[in-house]
Amino acid sequence: MSVNFALVAGADNYCLFGNPVAHSKSPRIHAEFARQTHQNIHYSAVLVPEHEFPEAVRKFQELGGCGANVTLPFKQEAWRLCAQRQPRAHLAGAVNTLWFGAGGVIVGDNTDGAGLVRDITVNRGLQLRDIDLLVLGAGGAARGVIPALVEASPRRIVIANRTPERALELAAEFGAVFPVEACGFQGLTGQVFDAIINATSASLQGQVPPLPAGVIRAAGWCYDLMYAREPTAFLSWAADRGVSHRIDGLGMLVEQAAESFWIWRGIRPETAPVIKLLRVNGR
Ligand code: ATR
Repeated sequence: MSVNFALVAGADNYCLFGNPVAHSKSPRIHAEFARQTHQNIHYSAVLVPEHEFPEAVRKFQELGGCGANVTLPFKQEAWRLCAQRQPRAHLAGAVNTLWFGAGGVIVGDNTDGAGLVRDITVNRGLQLRDIDLLVLGAGGAARGVIPALVEASPRRIVIANRTPERALELAAEFGAVFPVEACGFQGLTGQVFDAIINATSASLQGQVPPLPAGVIRAAGWCYDLMYAREPTAFLSWAADRGVSHRIDGLGMLVEQAAESFWIWRGIRPETAPVIKLLRVNGR
């Protein structure tokens, strides 16, 4: 299998590289942004076979592609491929947005964290500054958003993971910038947080990490980076504990796309109508 492109003549072409990509909402989101801002762009989803990511990027560049988003499982490979990285992407160790700079050099950024923070603080009006924040998970998703969370100045960030060593590794990496703490789920016993962000993939399996009772204040908020038609297992868990603010990752998805659009086009699209559109009929 090799990569298949459908670049459109007369438009600036962008794409999403991933595997799988068939159900991605990104083409629809960027088409809405383009319509709204009168930008002549075409954005498509490109299925990349496992070992063909670098070749896919090169081919896209050769054909005149302007920029791309990168999703699972290629975000870390994209990081390695980039000759230049924005500081937040460099720190995250993962790239979700790339474009071609002077001399064709591949430049990478990561807009996931900014998208998450914007959804929490702007769309939801919730606070990150000076709160006690628990992040569940220490994989690629957690890694991508932690730099932006650190920048938002919470009082405390604890990373808890099923495999505690991975949380410790991640905390050590960010330790030079911010004193992030790390533990396994059992290590949370007796601790109370203002907010929990679920960056594990447990919701995909309908599971919730085994969290001790009382770990979240009822007046606090819970955010799942995943989204689904029904509330995720984690958000149902939060509802059972009386947490009133429960948020899924749809807003973050649209916000990270808007941040990429801004990087590529220099125009910031309005996200609220697009989130609403997807919420009502696109999920
Ligand atoms: P992603 O890029 O989505 O973060 P990943 O790098 O494979 O994917 O990481 C998945 C994360 O979800 C990890 O933190 C994983 O915990 P381990 O490091 O212990 O594997 C976590 N995870 C996956 N399934 C889980 C489950 N059922 N319960 C708790 N944590 C889970």
